[in-house]
Amino acid sequence: MATAFDWKSVPLDRVGPDHGIGTPAAKLPDPDLGTGKIPAARYTSKDYMAREWAAMWTKVWLLGAREELIPDAGDWLSHEVGTESFIFVRQADGEVKGFFNVCPHRGNRLVPKDASGFANSFRCGYHHWEWQTDGGLKNIPDRETFSQLQDAAVDCALGLKEVRTDRWGGFVWFTMNRQAESLRDFLGVIPEHLDPYKFEAMKLIDWKTIRWDCNWKTSVDAFNETYHVQGIHPELLSWLDDWNVQIDCLGIHNRYLVPFTTPSPRYEDQATPSPMMHGFAQLHGVDPADYEGRPRQLRLAIQKAKRAIQHDSIYPYAGLNDDQLSDDYHYMIFPNVTMNIYGETMLMFVSRPHPTDPDKMLFDLLNFAHLAPGTPHQFPEHTTYDHGQISLGQVLDQDAFNLPVVQEGMHSAAYDGLILGSQELRIRHFHKVLEDYVGPD
Ligand code: FES
Ligand SMILES: [Fe+2]
Repeated sequence: MATAFDWKSVPLDRVGPDHGIGTPAAKLPDPDLGTGKIPAARYTSKDYMAREWAAMWTKVWLLGAREELIPDAGDWLSHEVGTESFIFVRQADGEVKGFFNVCPHRGNRLVPKDASGFANSFRCGYHHWEWQTDGGLKNIPDRETFSQLQDAAVDCALGLKEVRTDRWGGFVWFTMNRQAESLRDFLGVIPEHLDPYKFEAMKLIDWKTIRWDCNWKTSVDAFNETYHVQGIHPELLSWLDDWNVQIDCLGIHNRYLVPFTTPSPRYEDQATPSPMMHGFAQLHGVDPADYEGRPRQLRLAIQKAKRAIQHDSIYPYAGLNDDQLSDDYHYMIFPNVTMNIYGETMLMFVSRPHPTDPDKMLFDLLNFAHLAPGTPHQFPEHTTYDHGQISLGQVLDQDAFNLPVVQEGMHSAAYDGLILGSQELRIRHFHKVLEDYVGPD
């Protein structure tokens, strides 16, 4: 009797041994995180949401602002996370300070939410209290009517409340936690792994925010496994290997490495390069006709084509390993930053919690690219949309359509928690880190 084709044993081809350049690619040992269910209440309960805020969001480092959007002294950008709003403003010395976006007088927001602009000073619109851009108090109209504010010594306490900021990768990061470790310690191996891509030299080319009807973790989860490709994105199976995916837990962060331009071993036609693969191949001067009967080799041909031009390219190919020339190096920076990373571009998702409702969130989509010197570039307008108001492209539309349905299902009396397999190890790892912050359920 003939044995059935064992697609799960189809290996991933490699050009050769790692040349010792680029992002470390070695598989790390998987931590033993058990097999228990992850309680659904983490996604649905207001009580858990409040605990998450107090013990996690207010303790970790978070992504604040893209540096290129606030290049000059006085440039500012506001950013919301949960119940808080923050202002990031470029200082005269080139540093970036972060402040809670709230007026100490009666609590008005100083600047609009999710906005940007230039300021010589911040003046509250309600009663015109005013601050310098370094947060120091500048003026209180009719100050003599505040008997408690007559002593100049109180000026210091009336400065804007600052958050700690630091910078990495062309981004301003911040934390509400005065006692937090340094950003470098929080990021762990992330800079070492991702600096070869030169994010700080990339340009932001697309930036939008969508209101989604799901918990922020429902969104994070959806991008941390390729197990759902067969169900939600079946068309990707013709050019992406969802099975030979290396997962690594990197301290509190994690990653998976997804081979592109190679058919999934699940895909029925292992003999013909798919139309999508044709597109990728032609883009890099590779003739797909040469790969009839052996489409898995196309990925290696693309790697070789990019390696051949590495010194004449605007892309940082010379500092990347072979697999990085074709694949998606996909990283998650705890708690809410997801990065699809390629040699040329980086597609970033930031999943932000709603202020009060565990069934709602803000999804930020930011697209970055290395542009040739002299390429005209305008910063994209940042707009916030409702779910379904615009298309995010086929793949993200598929994810976005599914997420509210998952969120709804998690409220069912018949559903009590996530059952996770080894392809979903990143989700289990994420929950272990979350639990280390928030405590047991
Ligand atoms: S609330 Fe801002 S000046 Fe009164
Ligand atoms: Fe997806």
